[in-house]
Amino acid sequence: MTVDAYRFCVIGPGRLGSAVLAGLQASDLTVSAVGVHADDDAHLFGELPHLRVRDAALEADAWWLAVPDDEIHGVAGRLAEALPTMRRGGASPPLAIHSSGLGSVHLLKPLREQGVRTLCLHPLQTFAGEPTSGLLRDVPCAVTALEERDLQLGEELAVRLGMRPFRLADESKTLYHLAAVVGCNLLVALESEAKRLMDAATHDSRGLEHLGVLLRTTLENLLRSGEPAAALTGPVARGDLGTVRAHLRLLDRESPRLARTYRALSLEALTLAAPRLDDEQVETLRKLLGAGERP
Ligand SMILES: NC(=O)c1ccc[n+]([C@@H]2O[C@H](COP(=O)([O-])OP(=O)(O)OC[C@H]3O[C@@H](n4cnc5c(N)ncnc54)[C@H](OP(=O)(O)O)[C@@H]3O)[C@@H](O)[C@H]2O)c1
Repeated sequence: MTVDAYRFCVIGPGRLGSAVLAGLQASDLTVSAVGVHADDDAHLFGELPHLRVRDAALEADAWWLAVPDDEIHGVAGRLAEALPTMRRGGASPPLAIHSSGLGSVHLLKPLREQGVRTLCLHPLQTFAGEPTSGLLRDVPCAVTALEERDLQLGEELAVRLGMRPFRLADESKTLYHLAAVVGCNLLVALESEAKRLMDAATHDSRGLEHLGVLLRTTLENLLRSGEPAAALTGPVARGDLGTVRAHLRLLDRESPRLARTYRALSLEALTLAAPRLDDEQVETLRKLLGAGERP
């Protein structure tokens, strides 16, 4: 069964669900309904009927559960209970998808036990509620399933939506999600610290504006080279001990919490820079950053 044969219902038209809905419609796939748990969404999504979960079981045969992670298993259970007996399994089994980056494909187990094909499609993109058109285009998408035929179906659907699928083992999802959070959310937190320092130094509140070109060029260099070591500049990369000592003296006095972050990330920078430095520089920096020595 190819993706064209399914009638989709997106359950939870929130930040991700709205983008999925727009993507399915733009890809000429059949969307028969939107699944909601409250009536107040009725003004959204044009002509599509808005259905409670139990009714969505009847009106579609592919359910994309775009609900919060903690709700996925419960919604899958309610769908499974409402599934008409004749639709369970058979030659053309229905399909259920969830999009949690961390959550296992086993969250859909209640449906799988009824013969429904199950998979996870996790777009590596951030959806913050902006206009939905084209948000999935060219986005890498992790595909997780327990069977080869379901992996292939997930890849087909991801490609149809304009995404770039790659396979991800179910047992690797926590590690995978950690990578995404460190690379995206914690970067935002780090830039927030940088903005605070820049605002204090310049006595204005345009810290991010001042840092913008530096940040953009750094990200471009990093992504272009594909090698963190090639994009690394700064005092650790140069073995510039006096500068690192001055930073640490200020941080230890003014912001011990950021001092710990600075030391931890600078040790990673030192690992990247070590091949460019001599042994003595590496050893001195390692002691200084390891907090074994007062700056
Ligand atoms: N946002 C992202 O950047 C992003 C990226 C990748 C993956 N994801 C994944 O996408 C999924 C949804 O995340 P989101 O950020 O789009 O969440 P969201 O904006 O909060 O949207 C969740 C939607 O689910 C509905 N909902 C909640 N509980 C429900 C229930 N029991 N039955 C039916 N509908 C229910 C909500 O309706 P109400 O508003 O009426 O409560 C809302 O429409 C999660 O699995 C998340 O991990 C999100």
